[in-house]
Amino acid sequence: MAEQKTIAKKSFTIGGRAYPITDHYYDVIVVGAGGAGLRATFGMAEQGLSTACLTKVFPTRSHTVAAQGGISAALGNMGPDDWRWHFYDTIKGSDWLGDQDAIEYMCKNAMDAIVELEHYGVPFSRTEEGKIYQRPFGGMTTNYGDGPAAQRTCAAADRTGHAILHTLYTQALRHKAQFFIEYFALDLLMEDGECRGVLAWNLDDGSLHRFYGQQTVLATGGYGRAYFSATSAHTCTGDGGGMALRAGVALQDMEFVQFHPTGIYGAGCLITEGARGEGGYLVNSKGERFMERYAPSAKDLASRDVVSRAMTMEIREGRGVGEEADHIFLHLDHLPPDVLHARLPGISETAKIFAGVNVNKAPIPVLPTVHYNMGGIPTNYHGEVVTLKDGNPDAVVPGLMAIGEAACVSVHGANRLGSNSLLDLVVFGRAAAHRARDIVKRDYKVKPVSDATTEKLLTRLDSVRYAGGTQPTAVIRRNMQRTMQNHAAVFRTQEVLAEGVKKMKSVYDDFSDLHVSDHGMIFNSDLVEALELDNLRSQALVTVTCAENRKESRGAHAREDFADRDDVNWQKHSLCWMNEQGTTKIDYRPVHMNTLTDEVNTVPAKKRVY
Ligand code: FUM
Repeated sequence: MAEQKTIAKKSFTIGGRAYPITDHYYDVIVVGAGGAGLRATFGMAEQGLSTACLTKVFPTRSHTVAAQGGISAALGNMGPDDWRWHFYDTIKGSDWLGDQDAIEYMCKNAMDAIVELEHYGVPFSRTEEGKIYQRPFGGMTTNYGDGPAAQRTCAAADRTGHAILHTLYTQALRHKAQFFIEYFALDLLMEDGECRGVLAWNLDDGSLHRFYGQQTVLATGGYGRAYFSATSAHTCTGDGGGMALRAGVALQDMEFVQFHPTGIYGAGCLITEGARGEGGYLVNSKGERFMERYAPSAKDLASRDVVSRAMTMEIREGRGVGEEADHIFLHLDHLPPDVLHARLPGISETAKIFAGVNVNKAPIPVLPTVHYNMGGIPTNYHGEVVTLKDGNPDAVVPGLMAIGEAACVSVHGANRLGSNSLLDLVVFGRAAAHRARDIVKRDYKVKPVSDATTEKLLTRLDSVRYAGGTQPTAVIRRNMQRTMQNHAAVFRTQEVLAEGVKKMKSVYDDFSDLHVSDHGMIFNSDLVEALELDNLRSQALVTVTCAENRKESRGAHAREDFADRDDVNWQKHSLCWMNEQGTTKIDYRPVHMNTLTDEVNTVPAKKRVY
């Protein structure tokens, strides 16, 4: 049972306006109710910790619901498999930027995580023998890359995220975690270098709340909406990353943004990699299966960065399809209709609605589309936020945790393998719950922050609420999205990136000319979008700045002017801090090349071919 300890009220006055605040005290505060947030929430409640979960949307509307193709684990239901092969593939997929201790932890715990999900009630698709169905996904191989493709991705048709999210929510209800639904987290309550909770706005009645806890867990997802075309929901505004930056916490590896090869052309909606896992393939305007040239062995199931680059090259060299020769075709029309019906019903419907295509008869027009942020709030494999402090690259930020896409643990390094994301959510959501169980003191109330700290946060809120400039949120947001789409895309050069930094800084500064027309506090979506933009703009600027800074090509960061990976100078994580003026500072943390146990050997960097 996860009950709060005490409630108190206090009022502040900012700019002559009253801001009454209700204080809540819990053991743990989780911000976000997607896969990671829910797994952590009920895991903590299960341990008897009083746990509050704040979410700006109803839990089952969190973006995890849109995950399609599946969740990886070396169950070996469809052929030989081994978690050590999964470990190897993930390191290679990360282009040797992933932390090998964290990757070992994730891959080794994957099988138990799936069995746990099955017992919780996830309705996985089945084999003839009744085992969990697994499909091939990009970059997943057997025998340390020397064997054939692995069938490692556990699927519930092409609605795996939907199935998992609903199941996790029922578990959270079962363990009586306390939900604060449609509460928008505004800022972290940080003092003396430690996090004591979060300031939040109840969108429904306009009230403000300070949630105090010994651990605050950011599970707020990615910031895909910094770009113009993304598979991400409009709610994916990186609220945790924005709060972290404002609180003086550095973000890690933000230059690594994944483009999913198959977003629907023009609409951006995801067509799962599982479509290629089931036998789909890409063709150019000459009808060529061009992936054979770029990845002779894995072909259409090479890792996402490789496939997205190949598609972009084909289009650039004039072999794109359509009137403008600006996209590629994904063929599924050779697959038996019963396979499409049983395994890919969701994307068959999506293709019909958003591309007007009957997948049984015609190819789907697709284009690489922003899908995932490998970068985020740096953490260790327990979910604790870490930073570089007094020469210690793994110094823990007291009271603060991050999990899921908001975090950078870093198991994905420079490029995530498809279906490792859902795994990351449940494995590290669970790890955070275990850590909280071990470190949270029972019957202990954290020290409240000073009035000055709260007043500073309220002053920011008040200034956005009454922003009296000339540019509406939508205009600044569109300029940011266009800048990111044009200047931090699949291929990058110094010139394009440097111009991108300049333009993005100018967009960042435009926020001081913001115009918010609705000053109310009750379900004011104008104000919500402005605050979301504040979170997005800082991460957009950090992303393009870190991309300009990294003079090599690695994973999703492909520089035409530095075409090779440079392990001597760049096998390191970027850390980026930003102040209120949008001035950035970059430093580095070493990549963890060690493993946790002797059950597996570290994988030294080598040439990455598929
Ligand atoms: O293609 C997909 O189904 C997406 C999966 C993922 O990003 O892990």
